[in-house]
Amino acid sequence: MTVERSVKVKNRSLTTRELNVLADDYSCKEREWDIPGLRLLINDRLSALLPHVDSELPMLRAGMSYNLLAPGKRLRPLLTLLTAQNFGYHVTSALDVACSIEMIHAASLILDDLPAMDNAVVRRGQQTTHRKFGEDIAILSGVGLLNLAFSVLAANKTLSADIRIELIRLLTGAVGFEGLIGGQVMDLHLRSASTDDHQLSRVNAQKTAVLFTAAAEAGAVLAGVKDSQLSLVRKFASELGAGFQIADDFLDDIAYSGQTGKDTGKDMDKPTIVSKIGKSDASKMMHHHLDAAREHLYKLGGNTQSLTALIDYGFSRFRS
Ligand code: IPE
Ligand code: IPE
Ligand code: MG
Ligand code: MG
Ligand code: MG
Repeated sequence: MTVERSVKVKNRSLTTRELNVLADDYSCKEREWDIPGLRLLINDRLSALLPHVDSELPMLRAGMSYNLLAPGKRLRPLLTLLTAQNFGYHVTSALDVACSIEMIHAASLILDDLPAMDNAVVRRGQQTTHRKFGEDIAILSGVGLLNLAFSVLAANKTLSADIRIELIRLLTGAVGFEGLIGGQVMDLHLRSASTDDHQLSRVNAQKTAVLFTAAAEAGAVLAGVKDSQLSLVRKFASELGAGFQIADDFLDDIAYSGQTGKDTGKDMDKPTIVSKIGKSDASKMMHHHLDAAREHLYKLGGNTQSLTALIDYGFSRFRS
């Protein structure tokens, strides 16, 4: 598949036949790390999984699709697809699971932007959901996307009941007390000057890296990966997520909104790894996490070229 062909179908939904053609193309070895093409596949499926346009609740449908379909990097679903593919599982069979993880992520962004949280005005290159639709619809859209994610997982009849339950266990854990929600609470409330870098690393692990880990683990679970290989997948993604949040904090400090597509300068009054240990040490820490991620990939063996390409893609905005 070429990117040129992707562009041609960019503004409309793919037919089932076209999706199948794309799926066949992805089984070609030389194209298996075609990230732009996979993003197209993800975007198309996300759109199809939303409630119908003629839904009786147009405001809610619009609120849910507004942030979900805006141009995100799709890192987490890519992580699921490329991990599954790395172990020989077909990307289209992993697509709905990958999309449910992007729905969880989009929900977390809508809630993270609310006035009671980061009070942001721009997200994914457009107004935040609460600015566009009001806080009531934004909150319900976030909760609606979270609910839809688990409904998509539970309803996936192509997977065995055991695998579905395992994925739901994995993802509810990643969202919950010891994951994203707990991490967001710590992020908002650990504001004292005495907060140390270990506490901040824990916040980053919970609010960001846990979902990266679950995304990669979901791909591995689909492919039937177990034991030491599964543990390497987890370690790889956890290091990637830890490095990613440090890069995000850097961008909040050094980039402008037009570059990131979201508010910047939001972290000025709160402790982050970057503000706590300084830019130079934070950069070293970020590279340390990325090197560790690559090391775990190397230990995984096999053809990890596509996952290596994903690291480069995730950090392409960031050069230090
Ligand atoms: C933003 O994630 C939230 C963080 C965990 C830093 P992304 O930078 O992956 O956001 P999108 O999905 O590309 O919009
Ligand atoms: C939030 O971290 C991570 C989430 C769980 C959404 P940030 O608050 O730094 O994310 P951005 O910078 O708003 O995307
Ligand atoms: Mg935040
Ligand atoms: Mg934020
Ligand atoms: Mg940030």
